[in-house]
Amino acid sequence: MTKSRANILVVDDTPANLQLLESIIQERGYTVRAAINGRLAIKAARLQVPDLVMLDINMPEMNGFEVCRELKGDPRLAGIPVIFVSAAVETADKLRAFEEGGVDYVTKPFQPLEVLARVETHLELARMRAELERQNGVLAQTLRDLTRAQAHLVQSEKMAALGLLTAGVAHELNNPLNFISASVQGLQKTVAPVDELMALCQDLSGTAPDEALRRIRHWSSQNHPGELRQDMNELVSNACYGANRAAEIVASLRIFSRLDEADRKSVNLHECLDAALLLLHNRYKDHIRIERDYGDLPLWLCQPGRLNQVFMNLLGNAVDAIDAKSAPAGDDEIRISTRMQERDGRCCAVVEIADTGTGLSDEVRPHLFEPFFTTKEVGKGVGLGLAISHGIIRDHQGSIEVESRAGQGTLFRVVLPQFEA
Ligand SMILES: Nc1ncnc2c1ncn2[C@@H]1O[C@H](COP(=O)(O)OP(=O)(O)OP(=O)(O)O)[C@@H](O)[C@H]1O
Ligand SMILES: [Mg+2]
Repeated sequence: MTKSRANILVVDDTPANLQLLESIIQERGYTVRAAINGRLAIKAARLQVPDLVMLDINMPEMNGFEVCRELKGDPRLAGIPVIFVSAAVETADKLRAFEEGGVDYVTKPFQPLEVLARVETHLELARMRAELERQNGVLAQTLRDLTRAQAHLVQSEKMAALGLLTAGVAHELNNPLNFISASVQGLQKTVAPVDELMALCQDLSGTAPDEALRRIRHWSSQNHPGELRQDMNELVSNACYGANRAAEIVASLRIFSRLDEADRKSVNLHECLDAALLLLHNRYKDHIRIERDYGDLPLWLCQPGRLNQVFMNLLGNAVDAIDAKSAPAGDDEIRISTRMQERDGRCCAVVEIADTGTGLSDEVRPHLFEPFFTTKEVGKGVGLGLAISHGIIRDHQGSIEVESRAGQGTLFRVVLPQFEA
């Protein structure tokens, strides 16, 4: 609402007053509309909403207070500032003017400068209020956007966990399943001669045992039974190894995939760390040594599914940081240590994951926990791991600390205070 375009409705039953007010206000460049009684004023306001109304109190038929009440009752018009105009100087009248929703009061005879000052002040106040409302609207929208973004992040957290999980499980299960299927195929080949031998053995107790014995000797000269037995034993033990390994992975998966357990539960944190390690096995087994330095931790009350995600991400990051080194030293390791520690009078479980990877540069360090910050190539990292981990540890009233020097590896320390039961 610019000054020249501000639209002012003047209401007075005395034509001379109306003209005088009109001319004072018009001179300042406002657009003025005049109404000679209350009914016409309300009609005019509804037809085109004014920016301000100057309203005489003493009018026949419908007085200024009644007009004001009607304006305030209409949601479209309720916000228009109303300045009452009257010859009366009674304090009671002035009070009533404010009670009825007026913003100000001018008395006749008019002082042009005073009228203009009041009009300008209230137009400015109305403009500022409109601006505040607009900004409030923007803030409310921002809040809605933020809430939506947070919901999105929670969803991303679940998806990121699911993605890690599926990738880990697919890799890990593939290996033992290959073992089992290769062994079973080998065993299949040994089944035919063994079956033949079994049939010959059956004949031994029949009518011609000598003949059966002769054929068994012949079978033996053809089939190298020593090698066959060795093969069979090896194949069976390979298949057993594969089956046990697959069972281990499924068991770890059970520990790991407590994703839906938002509830707290007392768990063995070492079991959680081992489960995460097992799911990552494929990514480090050839070139990284894992050193476990587990202290004496009691069962820990936490949200295990979410904590597993934190461990999985920290360990995954450690593997990535080692793989990102331009010149691998050949003796790379990830050291996981746990211990109890008292911090600020609270009993805490401390889990440290230290790697011999690239370390953190001064450019990376300040952004570590920002959502979508990643230095990894597209498809390798989305940059949510640490942001999510940070949120999870914060929900556990704990903290994540980082120590690193570029080129010297990184240490992430998760501090988990004991929940008060
Ligand atoms: N142990 C570490 N050593 C060196 N740099 C690290 C280490 N951990 C994290 N970073 C750096 O912090 C960045 C952010 O890590 P974060 O786990 O949040 O995302 P990401 O691993 O890139 O992707 P995502 O975890 O979503 O797959 C990484 O891209 C990496 O640059
Ligand atoms: Mg990560």
